[in-house]
Amino acid sequence: MRMYDLIMKKRDGGILSKEEINFIISSYTKDYLPDYQMSALLMAIYFNGMSPGETADLTMAMAYSGEIMDLSNIKGIKVDKHSTGGVADTTTLVLAPLVAACGVPVAKMSGRGLGHTGGTIDKLESIPGMRVELSKEEFINNINKYGIAVMGQSGNIAPADKKIYALRDVTATVDSIPLIASSIMSKKIAAGADGIVLDVKVGRGAFMKDLDSAKKLSNLMVDIGNLVGKKTIAHITNMDQPLGLAIGNSLEVAEAIEVLKGHGSKDLLEVCMTLGIDMLKVAGIVKNDDKAKEMLNNALKSGIALKKFKEFIKAQGGDERVVDDITLLPQAKFVEEWTADKEVYIKDLPAFELGLIAMKLGAGRERKEDVIDLSVGIMLGGKTGDVIKKGYPIATVYANNKGRLDWAIENLKRCIVLSDEFVERPSLIYT
Ligand code: URA
Ligand code: CA
Repeated sequence: MRMYDLIMKKRDGGILSKEEINFIISSYTKDYLPDYQMSALLMAIYFNGMSPGETADLTMAMAYSGEIMDLSNIKGIKVDKHSTGGVADTTTLVLAPLVAACGVPVAKMSGRGLGHTGGTIDKLESIPGMRVELSKEEFINNINKYGIAVMGQSGNIAPADKKIYALRDVTATVDSIPLIASSIMSKKIAAGADGIVLDVKVGRGAFMKDLDSAKKLSNLMVDIGNLVGKKTIAHITNMDQPLGLAIGNSLEVAEAIEVLKGHGSKDLLEVCMTLGIDMLKVAGIVKNDDKAKEMLNNALKSGIALKKFKEFIKAQGGDERVVDDITLLPQAKFVEEWTADKEVYIKDLPAFELGLIAMKLGAGRERKEDVIDLSVGIMLGGKTGDVIKKGYPIATVYANNKGRLDWAIENLKRCIVLSDEFVERPSLIYT
């Protein structure tokens, strides 16, 4: 097989066979194929797309390019959850202990933040002492003992995806539906769970900007999952505005704790409940939505989910006292509120811009190598359609540098739109 012929085939709208895809992925992973040929192929895929069959073959080739986690030593049906990424999306920190408290074993590999989006692993690292690099043995032992473990993706999970993603990132080929679907699903399949619940984000802060593309991506990922024998369910949720109210690592940990205590962001809780219901169903713990909802509500109200979060933190070396005292989390030197000088409605909260402001405050990375500041970020006073009373904060900035603080406040005032008139709340969960 010659890579030249395969590039030409895709360029001319052909369908690559499973053997051809396996050849490409295994050669590229072993450095037998140069980046320029792989780049050309990715661009041909970007323009001509892939059939569902090709996408499934690509997914499996990437999944099997490295290690497949063997979770068979963990009792019960393991369910993974994945969000396609967003701003103020701290669902994992709430959901993991919540469903673990209901008896679903949570074996989660998470990523770090990049660009305007945050990552669970960074957020967890804002808890003093918390270890996110676990050996496979410790990961499995913790799940058997506590029902929960969250770790950074180990180096040998889907190495082909890692290499290809880096190339896509510099060749303008990231936002291709088959490439995104195969990238996400290859990692989920390699991570070894029996079932997968997906949160596909749509809107200005997401990869998918419109509902139609989000549905395509969502259906494709569900088909791939089910095709390879993993029960897969997907929801499409709004990422036109941030999900929760906190943007920034330690701020989001504090927000997750609030939600687990029964306060905090209602939207964050609602998305967690929606995904949690499906995780319980996929795990085979309940038969219907009502029963699942009841179990999740009980875990929250009884404080068992919060207790599980503490147990999880302690098991991975973290200081579990943060749950009772959030001032033990990294604190920013400067905190400034932008307050309403009269009663106003929030009319627009552009997710992408808000994520970028938080990133520039130091909460996120422009490049993979960047070091982040866990204490900084933005707290929103409300979401689109909420009323902010006179004297209350529209947003609060947490910074460690006075110049950046002033810059952030100025930019928030530029991008957050307010209104004197009633503003309808946008949909939160589309499907
Ligand atoms: N997340 C991934 O893991 N891969 C993509 O291609 C896009 C988002
Ligand atoms: Ca993510």
